[in-house]
Amino acid sequence: MIQLEDITRTYKLGDEIINALDKVNLTIKDGEFVAIMGPSGSGKTTLANIIGGLDSPTSGTVLIDGEGLSQKNDKNLSLYRNKKVGFVFQTFNLQSGFTALENVMLPLILAKMSGRERKKKAIECLTAVGLADRMNHKPNQLSGGQRQRVSIARALANDPEIIIADEPTGNLDSKKGQEIMDILKALNRNQGITLIIITHDSNIAKQAKKIIEIQDGRIKERAGAGA
Ligand SMILES: Nc1ncnc2c1ncn2[C@@H]1O[C@H](COP(=O)(O)OP(=O)(O)O)[C@@H](O)[C@H]1O
Ligand SMILES: [Mg+2]
Repeated sequence: MIQLEDITRTYKLGDEIINALDKVNLTIKDGEFVAIMGPSGSGKTTLANIIGGLDSPTSGTVLIDGEGLSQKNDKNLSLYRNKKVGFVFQTFNLQSGFTALENVMLPLILAKMSGRERKKKAIECLTAVGLADRMNHKPNQLSGGQRQRVSIARALANDPEIIIADEPTGNLDSKKGQEIMDILKALNRNQGITLIIITHDSNIAKQAKKIIEIQDGRIKERAGAGA
């Protein structure tokens, strides 16, 4: 379970102080599928990064299964980011010099898995996203939708309990975007992975069981359609 208590994240730009998040309270249960929706600049990415341990709040507490994220030492925080959470980004963030297979193997190197196991696992993950026939392609030899599938495979490599996808369909047309949503939804449904989709698109958000709306760094909740 993910619990955010009074999370505030402040940025200082010269004399100006920006509250990217302003006393955000939020609970996401294991296996839930939530969409975090809001306009550009509302604080979505800041929230995603704080939940995923990529950024820390100026004040407030992030509890993961009851344990404070800020209490974790560097090693345990890395373990959290690498093993418990899988990230999917709008711009894919793949290594351009590496093949799809190598990109998916990277987090497994960090996790110190042996070479053989690594390859087996990466092939399994790429197959799960329908890319078994594109494993030796580099990102620039793949379409946008295929690149995003590689990044989902990479997120899956360490068997995460949580997937955080920040505008995963933002660089794709609506058909390809929906294919990506269908893959992510299946992971939530079939494997019970907690799915957090960040989006400004209500057609994406309404597919979640719960929509969390954010505006000017503050949250208002309402029920989703649950399609
Ligand atoms: N590194 C930063 N330095 C200063 N301001 C930032 C930084 N990152 C984000 N912000 C500001 O915080 C607010 C929220 O940003 P962000 O979380 O990226 O919003 P969203 O993802 O919803 O577009 C915006 O006003 C943005 O300009
Ligand atoms: Mg953003």
